[in-house]
Amino acid sequence: MIETVATTPYSDQKPGTSGLRKKVRVFQQPHYAENFIQSVFDVVEGKAGATLVIGGDGRFLNREVIGKAIRMAAANGFARVVVGQGGILSTPAASNLVRRRGAIGGLILSASHNPGGPDEDFGIKYNIANGGPAPEAITDAIFRRTTTLDNYRIAAAPDVDIDTLGTSEVAGMTVEVIDPVADYADLMERLFDFPAIRAAGLSMAFDAMSAVTGPYAVEIFERRLGFAPGTVRNAVPLEDFGGHHPDPNLVHARALYDAMMAPDAPDFGAASDGDGDRNLIIGRGIFITPSDSLAMLAANAQLAPGYAVGLRGIARSMPTSAAADRVAAALGIPAFETPTGWKFFGNLLDAGMATICGEESAGTGSDHVREKDGLWAVLLWLNILAATGRSVAEIAREHWTRFGRNYYARHDYEGVDSAAADALMRDLRAALDTLPGRGFGALTVVEADDFAYRDPTDASVSAHQGVRVLFEGGSRVVFRLSGTGTSGATLRVYLERYEPPVGDLAAETGAMLADLVAAADAIAGITRHTGRTAPDVIT
Ligand code: G6P
Ligand code: ZN
Repeated sequence: MIETVATTPYSDQKPGTSGLRKKVRVFQQPHYAENFIQSVFDVVEGKAGATLVIGGDGRFLNREVIGKAIRMAAANGFARVVVGQGGILSTPAASNLVRRRGAIGGLILSASHNPGGPDEDFGIKYNIANGGPAPEAITDAIFRRTTTLDNYRIAAAPDVDIDTLGTSEVAGMTVEVIDPVADYADLMERLFDFPAIRAAGLSMAFDAMSAVTGPYAVEIFERRLGFAPGTVRNAVPLEDFGGHHPDPNLVHARALYDAMMAPDAPDFGAASDGDGDRNLIIGRGIFITPSDSLAMLAANAQLAPGYAVGLRGIARSMPTSAAADRVAAALGIPAFETPTGWKFFGNLLDAGMATICGEESAGTGSDHVREKDGLWAVLLWLNILAATGRSVAEIAREHWTRFGRNYYARHDYEGVDSAAADALMRDLRAALDTLPGRGFGALTVVEADDFAYRDPTDASVSAHQGVRVLFEGGSRVVFRLSGTGTSGATLRVYLERYEPPVGDLAAETGAMLADLVAAADAIAGITRHTGRTAPDVIT
């Protein structure tokens, strides 16, 4: 029996950088999740006979919303729902599943690296048939629909058992509960040289941060690759991630960092985030920035079987350092610069214009799925270490000696008053024309703009994607407001300084960026607008 439930619109259901992300309490308002899901379903065409993938990162509310989503899918005419056992699917595994099963799309329930629990965050994201996040035209249509919605449809049936593998039925729709790990692990085994990694006898510490990658990492690293039991730390996904912030950076994965800086550190250290799409890479005694990781992976990717034929192109988000561009130039392949947000890579990957993509926000991936993929990045690194016999530090040093080094850091000012943050960006945009030619200490501005992207595949334009200030010699400061926060505003300041191969390649990042930090404040008036004298997080 299908029930039609009357509802009234919420005005705040506009998807951000990565789906609709709100506090759990917001999602717990009457019909809140249902309204959004119905709006998604209303926008999806061709539901009859179609398969929908559903899964999430296991955070608080995951099971409850999956129960509703399955019953609503049945009431909206889907033929089949494929759901991960226990409601678990990492974001890249969900992307893979959408592609493999020829699904029309997928609902991924996650707030990524944001904390979980009754007072923390939840999110719903819709991915399209290519396995990637819905592009802006679709998220805009979903948002428009949320503003007028007056009812939703749901099967009047008990929630389906999602803990037992196999198929069942609800209101004429098939529900298939699958092992969330198997297909994904098989895909990794096809892309990378598992026997070589196994034979290399490397040691590793992988921190799953009590989030979704735990079961994937145990299966792949400990079972299939033979890493020692206990290689995967915090391997059990918890609804509140053990009270931690499942964000693999130097602040929230501090214990891993400290372990990797110790004299008895393993060969390789890595972590992933709440939903498994981000990665942190640390070698013995050396942290690799995400921007450098992208460049180093691209430069060595052909060592892995899945990329032996070479790369077609490399794409990076605008605030990501230009290190990857130098690799693309050396390989004679195109480099693309897109706005922040993985969704902008989808068209380039679909068109075969790029093979590897990455972002400074700890996301790296390739055309194997249409999401960034934390374990993929770890495995490509392991494959490179195994194939070369080099350490992470050696790979990094050789890379910089060849391409030069882009010293890089991101300074985040969190929980800033939204009006103050908007004023800062507004003043900055208004002053862009006055910046070229001006000096800040030893730095001279050559160009300043508000980044706009024209997608080469469909000519769509995304404007106002962040302010770039470029200095002589390839240094740069970028300012933008985060699109993924759930309270107040987060100002991100991205700092980058290029040292050529003949320059100082072994300096301390903070020292190399000090004059850029001063210039950033002089240009944007960070302290004046926000009252802050130092960032909350440096990554
Ligand atoms: C999510 C997206 C990424 C994006 C990141 C940072 O993780 O999937 O593609 O780079 O958010 O977004 P923000 O707007 O917070 O800087
Ligand atoms: Zn994530």
